[in-house]
Amino acid sequence: MTDLELLNLAVNAMENAYSPYSEFKVGAALLCENGDVYCGANIENSSYSATICAERVALFKAVSDRQTSFKSMAVVGCYPVKTQDFCYPCGVCLQTLREFCAPDFKIITANSLGDIKEFTLKELLPYGFSLGR
Ligand code: THU
Repeated sequence: MTDLELLNLAVNAMENAYSPYSEFKVGAALLCENGDVYCGANIENSSYSATICAERVALFKAVSDRQTSFKSMAVVGCYPVKTQDFCYPCGVCLQTLREFCAPDFKIITANSLGDIKEFTLKELLPYGFSLGR
């Protein structure tokens, strides 16, 4: 699975977003070490706080299938109008990824013009919380 293929899966997943409040669609595709891929889209709620991000939908689907090793995740997001903005995982999603993924876990993002950026989890969350046990 190439980064580009993973990004394309995230773009497809984005179409499944339930985002009537923000109208901002996000798609995520998570590649497991064993080659399996789990996709997710953001699911909003009229209470707003019950909204869940695409990244955590993908991760929770994988973890609830007993997946334990993860390689990379592609994330894309946009409003109906295309922009050059990139969609980065929010702080809650980064902390959630930190629970299950190594510091060199790769996060790939693209804007709607097709530009691509790559980071490690450690780069986006240098000081994540840990109980230190
Ligand atoms: N959202 C995600 O799905 N992932 C993120 O990392 C940040 C934000 C969603 C939540 C909400 O449905 C919409 O984007 C606007 O905040």
